[in-house]
Amino acid sequence: MNQAKHPIRFNNTVLRDGHQSLAATRMSTAQMLPIAPLLDKAGFAGLETWGGATIDSCLRFLGENPFDRLRALKQAAPQTPHLMLLRGQNIVQYTAFPNDVVEAFVRCTSDAGCDIFRIFDALNDPENLQTAIRAVIESGRHARGEICYTQSPVHTVESFIEFGVQLADMGCHSLAIKDMSGILPPAVAAQLVKGLRKKTGLGVTVHSHDTAGLAAATYLAAIDAGADAVETSIAPFANGTAQPDTARMLALLAGNPRCPDHFDGELLMEIRQYLEKIYLELAEFTTPANERTDADILVYQVPGGMLSNFRNQLKELNMSDRVGDVMKEIHYVREALGWIPLVTPTSQIVGMQAMMNVKFGRWKNFAPAAMDIALGKFGRTPGPIHPEVLKLACELSKQEPVTTNASKVLPPGMPELRRKVAEAGLPETDEACVLYAMFPQQTSAWFKGESVIPAPAAPKPAPQAPPAAAPASVRRMVVTVGGITRNAIVETLP
Ligand code: CO
Repeated sequence: MNQAKHPIRFNNTVLRDGHQSLAATRMSTAQMLPIAPLLDKAGFAGLETWGGATIDSCLRFLGENPFDRLRALKQAAPQTPHLMLLRGQNIVQYTAFPNDVVEAFVRCTSDAGCDIFRIFDALNDPENLQTAIRAVIESGRHARGEICYTQSPVHTVESFIEFGVQLADMGCHSLAIKDMSGILPPAVAAQLVKGLRKKTGLGVTVHSHDTAGLAAATYLAAIDAGADAVETSIAPFANGTAQPDTARMLALLAGNPRCPDHFDGELLMEIRQYLEKIYLELAEFTTPANERTDADILVYQVPGGMLSNFRNQLKELNMSDRVGDVMKEIHYVREALGWIPLVTPTSQIVGMQAMMNVKFGRWKNFAPAAMDIALGKFGRTPGPIHPEVLKLACELSKQEPVTTNASKVLPPGMPELRRKVAEAGLPETDEACVLYAMFPQQTSAWFKGESVIPAPAAPKPAPQAPPAAAPASVRRMVVTVGGITRNAIVETLP
């Protein structure tokens, strides 16, 4: 098939990545529903409505059942395929889950109306993806294998294409280049799209963020190189750390043989006007720093969703004046930990470790989750771990490096989860089980009608009161040396 003759397809991200990147994932289902039928009518090839941080945010901050959200959105926008972002074996959390839990999650999500699963692993480790890909294929849905784009001495165009071939061999129906930090140069995008199409014959979608101002140009180059689709949002939940705005992208494509001609400018404007109102309602979660285009990201490679929270966290830790140092330290930590791409959850872990390195000295306070990366518990890192860092991790954790993927060794989890939800007085459904597996307290609270925006759980060790929306665990984490759980770390950076 000659893609170059077909109009480019746009997937719309405003109901997931758009507000995750620019408004800390706080758009509620009630705010989404009035606009869903219009988005459905607009002519997008897909609507990204679920996954990523939205599930956590529904339970933790919005008092919502995420599966109810998906069902409601599917009903309100039934014609356009719905997309979700799935973190492979980690589902939408930060640690590996047993295969049967991943499979149950995919079944529930498919039943609730998700059509296309964007499946990624922060390390691009195929072993972390195989269960999820298989489960999506078995549920009869579309498996889109995501290649996390990053730059390092060990990441080359050839290595990404090789990974794409592996994803195709695993049965993915299409591929995507996931440029979570918005650092993918147009010329490289063109090489990747051409190479992936040639080697796999699959459609390639490009997903980028406009953080550094590259995304729209990158999309244009990818479109000219034969990409199947690009992902756009709608202003004001667009541009900056989110995807380029749809109307802007259409304007850039004017005169291009692949410019789609079915979008109605007035309808897009109507959607935008509604979203302007919602953006104002979410003002406390938005910041000009995320709205502007800043090429700093090209040095630091911090993804948009992370930047959105990171500045607040540093302020909370009284480290606003060390932002530059921490950003530089991120680069060092990343290299020491085998050049892992920075994307949830590694972005949070590397960011937190960099913060602690700057505050306390390098590796003086070695976060358990960072130790786990060094020990191989997240999967194979793209490059080698610095030997002295690995030695330290082994000594501190009293553990040996892991060589077998979690998906091969974790025992089935659903029977135990069923017991636990029954004990907690929750319905013994697969939906309750998979939510409980990832967010036990918040899931219990929702089913018992006790969901509230959480107040800080521990006494405040720091004199500065945090902003209302910031989780308490940030301060716990910094004052506790070595005694923190992985969940405590990641709660700090949703
Ligand atoms: Co994204």
